[in-house]
Amino acid sequence: MRWLTLDGLVVIILAAGLGKRMKSKKPKILHTLAGQPMITYVVRQAIALTPERTIIVIGNHTEEIKNYIRDDSVEFVYQMEQLGTGHAVSATGDMLNDFDGTILILCGDVPLISIESLHRLIDVHRTERNHLTCITTTVTNPEGYGRVIRDDKGRLLKIVEEKDATDIEKKTKEINSGIYAVEKKFLYTALKSISNENIQGEYYLTDIINVGITEGAKMGTIGVENPIEVMGINDRRELSEAERYLRKQKLNDLMLNGVTIYDPENTYIHTCVTIGRDTTIYPNTFIEGNTTIGEDCVICPNVRIIDSRIGDSVIIKDGCVIMNGEIENNVSIGPFAHIRPETIIGKGAKIGNFVEIKKSTIGEDTKAMHLSYIGDATIGKGANIGAGTITCNYDGFKKHRTIIDDGVFVGSDTQFIAPVHIGRGAVIGAGSTITKDVPPDALAISRVEQVNKNGWSLKRQSKVKSLKLKSKNRKGK
Ligand code: UD1
Ligand code: CA
Repeated sequence: MRWLTLDGLVVIILAAGLGKRMKSKKPKILHTLAGQPMITYVVRQAIALTPERTIIVIGNHTEEIKNYIRDDSVEFVYQMEQLGTGHAVSATGDMLNDFDGTILILCGDVPLISIESLHRLIDVHRTERNHLTCITTTVTNPEGYGRVIRDDKGRLLKIVEEKDATDIEKKTKEINSGIYAVEKKFLYTALKSISNENIQGEYYLTDIINVGITEGAKMGTIGVENPIEVMGINDRRELSEAERYLRKQKLNDLMLNGVTIYDPENTYIHTCVTIGRDTTIYPNTFIEGNTTIGEDCVICPNVRIIDSRIGDSVIIKDGCVIMNGEIENNVSIGPFAHIRPETIIGKGAKIGNFVEIKKSTIGEDTKAMHLSYIGDATIGKGANIGAGTITCNYDGFKKHRTIIDDGVFVGSDTQFIAPVHIGRGAVIGAGSTITKDVPPDALAISRVEQVNKNGWSLKRQSKVKSLKLKSKNRKGK
């Protein structure tokens, strides 16, 4: 056997499968785990090994998949028809004509594999000078996995898929992870010898083990202790199990780094999120996407924060939704506020109950405490936005901006008919509908003047009394 060479490493990720068991329109590998498509976890591990090349075998939904993997070092190859894992690896053959070395085969649907296990696989593979080394593990329920069949001396004999296994083989608890280190020359030579004569009519990559043994090649295995690492995600139950595992890992990591999480069972934080020390997270919170939260913040119950940057010492009170926002230090938001995309809230600002803000900048120390809609607005520093203030930003065709300069005082129940500009230090009388720009330091008031009619109520009361008396007399007759 002269197949063995130990130079270089190429990673192949199998990701063309149809993922039928997900019952989805979306390719399986794009289903998300803790906020990221499952394939991105596998690609990250591949890249961390600094291989010469990383090749992903993909089938349908090519553009969608490429969109998520924007890494120039990753190459793609198409497997037009999904005829099995062996067939998928064969699709890479032409790309690797000039390569000679170790190929690490990963599965797009086995995303939790640790970098330590991959290093160990390659180490053992190279130290033992194997032609193929496979990661296996022992599980209590091997359902759905290929079973590892050994001879009476414990040597690897073959891997048999569940659908092709005998009742005795099915009882084996040692399963194939679908992850292998394999020597290039052996791999492509052996692939030529496999057939699709099995229950599924597929070309199984695992069959190269039988080929190797027949040809006298050296086959090895390494075991991983934690089966979750090699868990294959084939259906939505497994997707949620992997999600739970990643979530727990993330929360542990945050807690070990100084974040208080009252109830980890009911806190949902995506992998990419960063949170500073001494921040406290109450239960039933969802912190998602590329969100950064600073130190000493308090995130109260029932809050959802997506793709946002939150500074230090910020309090987000109960029931808020923040999406794509930038919240500076010492801000207080909520309860029940909705911060929509492209909003910047300046240092020390206070946003209160039932306030919705969209595509707006709120200056330092400005307050909008109650029941307001602020859309397409730029509000300066130290302004006060009274309860019930509405920016009427949409005329049915276009959106218009409202500009409110520093120190403006807006009385309650004001409507700004945008576009409109309120000068620095101006005061808007409560209940006004502002249709024109207001100069700095002016008072703008647009409500109808009040009229008081003395004694009017008394006259009304006596009229009501006499009407009531008449109707009683009528009934009495
Ligand atoms: C496979 C293994 C099984 C192992 C399990 C571990 C084979 C024959 N079986 O089974 O022994 O226990 O993984 O999770 O290898 N793929 C392609 N093209 C295809 C078919 C599959 O790219 O034509 C890709 C899939 O996208 C997936 C991976 O290969 O990422 C594994 O395919 P899947 O159909 O999920 O295999 P399993 O039945 O899980
Ligand atoms: Ca699988």
